[in-house]
Formats: sequence, structure tokens, C-alpha cells
Amino acid sequence: MAIEVVKWHGDRATILDQTRLPDAEEYLEINDYRVMIEAIRELKVRGAPAIGIAAGYALALGAQQIRETTQDGYLRALDEVIAAVNASRPTAVNLVAATAKLRQVALTTPEISAITGALTRAAVAIQEDETVAMSALANHGAALLPDAGSVLTIFNSGVLATAAGYGTALGVIVRAVALGKRLSVIACETRPLLQGARLTAWELAREGVPGRLITDGMAATVMAQGEVDLVITGADRIARNGDSANKVGTYGLAVLAHAHGIPFYVAAPLTTVDLDIASGAEIPIEQRDASEVTQFRGVASAPPGFPAINPAFDVTPARYIAAIITERGVIRPPFEEGLSSGRQ
Ligand code: MRU
Repeated sequence: MAIEVVKWHGDRATILDQTRLPDAEEYLEINDYRVMIEAIRELKVRGAPAIGIAAGYALALGAQQIRETTQDGYLRALDEVIAAVNASRPTAVNLVAATAKLRQVALTTPEISAITGALTRAAVAIQEDETVAMSALANHGAALLPDAGSVLTIFNSGVLATAAGYGTALGVIVRAVALGKRLSVIACETRPLLQGARLTAWELAREGVPGRLITDGMAATVMAQGEVDLVITGADRIARNGDSANKVGTYGLAVLAHAHGIPFYVAAPLTTVDLDIASGAEIPIEQRDASEVTQFRGVASAPPGFPAINPAFDVTPARYIAAIITERGVIRPPFEEGLSSGRQ
């Protein structure tokens, strides 16, 4: 059965609560935009394309509550919802790109009584468009992968991260295996919240793709032992020059791959490309609560009160990236031209 990561039901949304995986498959019904914002912040729904889609539905829900009767009043109220949604998570550009797209729809819908409907249709279209894009991306990426070998990945970049039928990096691997390539996956567990262990391992098992889990610190060893043929990851925001933000730990893997002569690929839809920023130095990095590092699911793993730092993402410089796989095809360095012309 397909996983319904985020689904719109005409007047409300449901999400699969990813904080409960792999122990329980629990769906939450959401009919208030503030609840959707909390779900995004608490990582119940997560992954760059998925939070873009969830942000669209948050606006559709917020619009249902607007009672203003003038265009200006409506837009002011909508802008308050947009500001709250935009503040939920800073790194994935998909989120702000989705709210900007929907704001434009509101601005260009002349009849005030038609705005909520138009916004809702546009939110649904974001999910439909991402689903088409993700399938194309998976095909381009699958063609790039070797016929056999071992692929290392970090974090979760599967359908749980996109809510769009296929994953990004994991979608490429799953499609390649479906096409008959004999690939196996080495999945980094992904500290501190273990999305690799909890979510990627769950998706691989569901898809019947062979995989093995490692702790993040084992990546250098498995590369040195010749156990890795390529590395592929997703991204949360890609700058014009190709610098790519992804889950913290990705940068280290790219450096390691470079040191071992292993190709490092990034897979992401064009909605993750931010052409407004020249390099990764401009990507806002989310800092999350230190308690995520000092405990797991409420169980302490450090002395009480011991300080920790918790950047949720890091930036991989473009020079370590062999190719960026998008729905328009595989882009090779230098990335700026390919990323710019790939944009719709
Ligand atoms: O903190 P998350 O779970 O939202 O982080 C997501 C990632 O880092 C993914 O790897 C990324 O969104 C790219 S895969 C769609």
C-alpha cells in the first residue's frame, strides 16, 4: 500500500506522524494551520519537498479562517499566516517557495470570494507537480547509477521526505533497483534523531531493497574498506553555484568521498534550488534544541544540564559534488548555468 505522507481531503489534511516511526504508523488529522505549523516544527512531517507541500496546505487551512471582506484585509490576514508558516523551519527553501507561490495566487485572484478556493487548488497542484517531478528525477538518477554496487546515503530522502510518490536520493536508488540494478544501500543512522535508522531502514525494508545500517562515525571505515561505490544524498537548499545544504553530517561524507575517490551525488527537485542566493554562505542553518543531542525520546544520554550544539544542517561545497540530479536531468559542474536554465 502507498504511504500517504501528506494528503489533502478537500477541507483538511492528514499526515503520517514520522516521529512515531518505525514503532507505529499513526495518521493525524489536521484542520488548523497552527497545528500544521507545529507538526512541521516537531518533524512530524519533514523533508524539504514534504514541508513545502505541508506549508501549502497550512495556507489553505489558514485561508479558511479568514473572514475579511476587502482585498487588502484578506491579504493582511493571509500575510500573518504566511509569516507564521515561514518561521516554522528556515533551511528548506521549498517551504518559503510554496508560500510565495500561493501568495501570488491570492494577489492575482480578483474576486475575494474566490481566493480561498484558488489557494487550495494551488496547494494541491504543488503536491501534484512534485509527484511528476520526483518520478522524472528518479528515472534520471537511476540511469546514472551503476548496474551493481553499494550506495551510501545519510538521513531520509525517501517518500517520507517528499510526500510525492518517490523520494529524492532514496527514490533514485529504489527506481534503479526496480529497473534491475543490483544495488545495496549503506544507510547512516543519522544522529541525533536517527532518521536514517528509523525512517530510511523502514522504507528500504518496505521496498525490498537490501540495506545495512551504520553509525555515522563508521562512514570513513566502510569507505576505506572499499565497501562504497558512490554516495548519494538529498538537499534542503541548493545555491546558484551548487553549494548544497542537507542534513548535518552530509558535508563530512562529501569530504570523505573526495578523499577516497568516490563520486558524491545530490538528488533534488528544482523547487529545492534557490537562485536568489549565490553560494551556500547565504543558506540559513536551523539550530535546534540542545536536548535533541543530550537525550533520545526523553532518555538522557549525557549528564543533566551538559551543554550541546545542534545545527540541523550543513553545507556541502559544490567542489565536492560530482553531479546534481533533478527532474530535468543530471547537471554537472560548473553548476550555475545548468541550475539556472533548469528552472521553469
Ligand atoms: O530535518 P529534516 O528531516 O526536514 O531534514 C530533511 C533532510 O535533510 C533531507 O535529506 C532533505 O530534505 C532532502 S531529501 C528530500
